[in-house]
Amino acid sequence: MSTSNSLGALGDRLSTRMERVESMLDEHVRMDDLQIDPATSHLAKAGGKRLRPALVFLTSELGPDPEAQAVYDSAVAVELTHLASLYHDDVMDEAPMRRGVESAQLAFSNTVAILAGDILFSRASTIVAGLGPRSVELHATMFERLCTGQLHETIGLAAGDNPKDHYLSVLADKTGSLIAASARYGVLSSGGSEDLAEIVAQYGERVGVAFQLADDVIDIMSSGDATGKTPGTDLREGVDTMPTILLRERAAAGTLDDAGAQILDRLENADLSSDEALEEVVGMLRKHAVLEETQEMARQWMESGLAYLDGVPEGDVRDSLTDYAHYSINRTA
Ligand code: IPE
Ligand code: IPE
Ligand code: MG
Ligand code: MG
Repeated sequence: MSTSNSLGALGDRLSTRMERVESMLDEHVRMDDLQIDPATSHLAKAGGKRLRPALVFLTSELGPDPEAQAVYDSAVAVELTHLASLYHDDVMDEAPMRRGVESAQLAFSNTVAILAGDILFSRASTIVAGLGPRSVELHATMFERLCTGQLHETIGLAAGDNPKDHYLSVLADKTGSLIAASARYGVLSSGGSEDLAEIVAQYGERVGVAFQLADDVIDIMSSGDATGKTPGTDLREGVDTMPTILLRERAAAGTLDDAGAQILDRLENADLSSDEALEEVVGMLRKHAVLEETQEMARQWMESGLAYLDGVPEGDVRDSLTDYAHYSINRTA
């Protein structure tokens, strides 16, 4: 995310801090053991938007000491945690590409990717331990939710679950939890109050759900060149995301149109391991109204997050948090 441009002095401060995070990250993913180093540094080197550290820095401006070392440490810790979760996610999703490069399990192996991810989690934990027990608790609680979300996505619906509600709770857990924690870390590590931290965490949680709903749309709409990921990976894995959940909801209600029925038929019967078949179903989904509906849901979740900013003092930080939320759903990558 570009943190400079229209943000003036705040933007300049944030850009300088993001540069420092970049070199801290580089240090923390690096291993003296040269056999292991290529795996642990693989994804950080490939880039990424660094949205979670950016949020730490933004909300740190709401506390008295945004330049505190703890702010930098928590910014690195949330990105390391995110990074590690991507190593594991790509194993689970059998995703071939991430951040424009081969995913770690393809470049190395499943086992190497899992263990490299574990090392990055450990490094995040070491940093967080230095921040004190409150931060350790915050990190552990968030991490349990992140894994719970991934587990519920994998295991699927329990008897009687509403598919849409189940999915939204998966998104809140797997994605909202870390974005909420990033917002909370920023305030707490710059010495701000628990009350303010709670407000921005509520904002972050909802913006996180919006971010992931937008991601579902991007997975279908954007090219792999733009996202650095393979479009349609979720479809290939047979993982329902909001657009396909909406199709199934319409099918159950007897209101699904022919185009939608054809998509569901392809999802159930076509061999999506073939690139042609996957591209065809992605192309069909791109034209279907469920994508617009998913984007509209993302907008509503973003709005519900923005409502919490009423509790944040007016000014350029609040304006930037508003921009951050809009960027989360309007991005193309
Ligand atoms: C990808 O997150 C995982 C999701 C929660 C959708 P990002 O889109 O923030 O990934 P990077 O860090 O920019 O690669
Ligand atoms: C990633 O979810 C969420 C976490 C890593 C916790 P997805 O599987 O939907 O994200 P992408 O599309 O691979 O980035
Ligand atoms: Mg994935
Ligand atoms: Mg996944």
